[in-house]
Amino acid sequence: MFPTRRMRRVRSRTIQPLLCETTISKNDLVAPLFVDETASAPVPISSMPGQFRYPVSGIAAVVQKFRDRGIRAVLLFGIPAHKDEGATAAYDPQGVVQQAVRNIKAACPDMLVITDVCACEYTSHGHCGIVGDSRCSGPDLLNDESLLLMNKIATSHAEAGADIVAPSCMLDGMVGSIRAALDTAGYEEVLILSYSTKFSSALYGPFREAAESGFSFGDRTTYQMNPANGREAFLESQLDADEGADILMVKPAGPYLDVLADVATLGLPVAAYQVSGEYSMIKAAAERGWIKEKETVLETLTCIKRAGADLIITYFAYDVCGWLS
Ligand code: PBG
Ligand code: ZN
Repeated sequence: MFPTRRMRRVRSRTIQPLLCETTISKNDLVAPLFVDETASAPVPISSMPGQFRYPVSGIAAVVQKFRDRGIRAVLLFGIPAHKDEGATAAYDPQGVVQQAVRNIKAACPDMLVITDVCACEYTSHGHCGIVGDSRCSGPDLLNDESLLLMNKIATSHAEAGADIVAPSCMLDGMVGSIRAALDTAGYEEVLILSYSTKFSSALYGPFREAAESGFSFGDRTTYQMNPANGREAFLESQLDADEGADILMVKPAGPYLDVLADVATLGLPVAAYQVSGEYSMIKAAAERGWIKEKETVLETLTCIKRAGADLIITYFAYDVCGWLS
């Protein structure tokens, strides 16, 4: 009546470390960074304790600090001085991201620079591209007009020296369109990390304060995915794989690990984005003493990797690198 199969044998303190299936390393992590054209010193982001909007002039030094800790890749978001209906600042050669990329590459050539390709920080209405009247949804994001805009943004980032462009607008055909534009401009070697399965999530709340990308009407549910849909989530990533994405992404990460595991079966590298809300929930609970920050962060990241992520984009990247040293 006593067990012969004793799972606790493999959990003895001495053998446990040898049998660990998943470990987080510095090579798994990508650090998102906000670059603010209007800032002259780092501006703390109140909804994301410990995160800042950095001035263009200071971004290279920040990235150098990250590199010294062992971080190999950063993901840049820009906050421009000027917004308009056409997001013209997003593809300006002197735009905030373009300048930041050049500064970083000059100071830190071995840092992999990934740029977020979207228009929501640059449009006056806050939507992710060109808005106009649609057949069924009223004023809405116009797909093909917005694709032309994404082509211009991605090409200008590549021109500035970005290694990887990461379209996050969830437009149909965005990967194929950007791939063709990059190739035509001679940037065959620039990778596309597609936000291939991006859900319309309440967990982006803190980011919208950080990047000033809140929308003035409607919501993003006509382009970002319904969190309820798993098969559609897989198809979204499959289409981007077919269009030539080099790396796929599932976003947010923690609540969507079933989707992540599914998408990993496509065979391409997969990134998971632990988003602002996932970050701020941990920060807020830890500040109150309700959970332990380090243990919680390492657990969430380990589980994201276990589910199939090759890369994890996380605002904790810098701290984690410190803990791993
Ligand atoms: C913009 C964009 C968003 C995020 C990354 N790119 C916000 C949104 O879609 O509303 C979210 C990142 C985060 O919450 O950390 N397209
Ligand atoms: Zn956007």
